[in-house]
Amino acid sequence: MKPPPLLVHVAVLLGTAFIAAYAAAAADPQPERRRELVSMVRQDCGSCHGLTLSGGLGPALLPHTLAGKPVDSMVATVMNGRPGTAMPGWARFLSEPEAEWVVRTLMAGFPADGVGR
Ligand code: HEC
Repeated sequence: MKPPPLLVHVAVLLGTAFIAAYAAAAADPQPERRRELVSMVRQDCGSCHGLTLSGGLGPALLPHTLAGKPVDSMVATVMNGRPGTAMPGWARFLSEPEAEWVVRTLMAGFPADGVGR
């Protein structure tokens, strides 16, 4: 038996709502990608910002040193780099939402292994 058209509409609407909710939740990278991002930050970013992110060629990326800095401009720095400085852009390696996750996670205290947060 074919379902009545109204039911089909309701089902489609519900499906759309679920997809929208999932997309919102998916703004944070999935656990496996987080692990990749964390090791990238520890290794690649750490080569300039220090293995403990407490500074080196680049400034410290610790919660107390980043506190109060605008997230947007730090995301732009991660994506595009800072012309005239050693800070390169990383847009080829991560998406903007991922860069925002990295910045927010740095501000909150970066996990050692990517399992946390
Ligand atoms: C080749 C060295 C180098 C690498 C690799 C590097 N950075 Fe940087 N980064 C710098 C330097 C130098 C600055 C300071 C630029 C300036 O003088 O404004 C900086 C600045 C920053 C800032 C701004 C900090 C602030 O206090 O405003 C952020 C955030 C940042 N880097 C994040 C990252 C992340 C995340 C990565 C890895 C994806 C990374 N950096 C990799 C050299 C580097």
